[in-house]
Amino acid sequence: MEEIKKVTWRSPSNIALVKYWGKKSGIQIPANPSISFTLEQCYSETSATLIKKETKNRDIELRFYFDGKENMAFRLRMLKFFDIIAKDFPILRQYGLFVHSTNSFPHSSGIASSASAMSALALCLCDLQNQMDKKKVSKDKFLEESSYYARLGSGSAARSVYPLIAEWGKAKGVKGSSDLHAIPFEQNLHKTFKTYQNTILIASSAEKKVSSRVGHSLMKNNPFAAVRYAQANKNLRDLIVALKKGDLEKFGSIVEDEAMTLHALMMCSSPSFVLLAPSTLSMIEKIRRFREETKLPVYFTLDAGPNIHLLYPNNIKRKVDSFIFDELEQHCEQGKMIHDNVGKGPFSVK
Ligand code: DP6
Repeated sequence: MEEIKKVTWRSPSNIALVKYWGKKSGIQIPANPSISFTLEQCYSETSATLIKKETKNRDIELRFYFDGKENMAFRLRMLKFFDIIAKDFPILRQYGLFVHSTNSFPHSSGIASSASAMSALALCLCDLQNQMDKKKVSKDKFLEESSYYARLGSGSAARSVYPLIAEWGKAKGVKGSSDLHAIPFEQNLHKTFKTYQNTILIASSAEKKVSSRVGHSLMKNNPFAAVRYAQANKNLRDLIVALKKGDLEKFGSIVEDEAMTLHALMMCSSPSFVLLAPSTLSMIEKIRRFREETKLPVYFTLDAGPNIHLLYPNNIKRKVDSFIFDELEQHCEQGKMIHDNVGKGPFSVK
């Protein structure tokens, strides 16, 4: 195998504070703006290698390995993505491509991997195409371009390319915001949030009953859709103020409102679906009681699944660790959890 060029990128997952749930018509256009913390410990590491093509035709020649094993299901998903973007990436038809990917978090942890996986892949492709074209682009331009293509792979992946926090989706009053790519938002972040902690409590690692893609599409006929999109815009505006000021209480109340709304929308979709587990509710109750009793700013959010993302400032880590150990660990599947924190964003692995 003649290797022509190889790049490797490590890109993190993210956790949405204001949720993207519902799409407009068009390719991956969000129905409302969203914002997320970029994580650190949960990441995908992907390398993409260009090799000499086996045939002379224009077909895409791709081999895909996940955790060292060839994976045909993921390969098919990638080929669909490549079909959408191939017109902007001549390398995809000029060369053969080997892609190897791994996740830092276990495959069966119930953690969504599309954000980290698709952002890592988009970063690899943009890097490869630029290098083959001998094109010098600024870092800002490179990340914007990667975010744009990551979005076409999976909406939430658009936000993973920026350090600490990223906003995606046209929003009134948010300069530079766009439906087509995320924007960096670090400059609007109070220092307390730059070291924020996120412990992921695994309520269940079972595969999701309903994919995000289907969940988004069910918003089309959800009777609360219009109200939801207005609420998301307002929550984003209010959250931005809290993020700037370092207002942890306001931050927490918005974030919990978003988590509960996301799941309420699922429950009242047609058909209805429930992704919460009984242990999710037990943990929510305990978190709210703990907050009431201690007045400590410990809040939670949820992804499209049963796992709790506990959010708290770094300076109360020890107290929260004891609370987790004493009260929450017993509700986690085999005691499973992942300690994560707000992170610095993707980087190229040399
Ligand atoms: C609940 O980005 O996974 O995590 O664009 O169809 O790939 P696709 O969906 P995806 O949806 C994420 C939904 C969410 C909220 C969020 O991350 O904003």
